[in-house]
Amino acid sequence: MGTVDFVDMDGNVIDTRTDFSLCRCGFSKDMPFCDSSHKAAGFAAEGYISKKEDVKEENGEKA
Ligand code: FES
Repeated sequence: MGTVDFVDMDGNVIDTRTDFSLCRCGFSKDMPFCDSSHKAAGFAAEGYISKKEDVKEENGEKA
């Protein structure tokens, strides 16, 4: 764990954070960081299994 400096293309530090997630869905209002907008957008990463029922189905079990 540590801090990360975010820099612009000229190398100027524009933000420093210690706890963050980067947005992968494209819906964040705080790019490049995740603001949880992915939940309302229904975004799920390819290959990500989010529900127990889906895991069961994936394993050939009845959900
Ligand atoms: S991944 Fe885009 S807002 Fe969370």
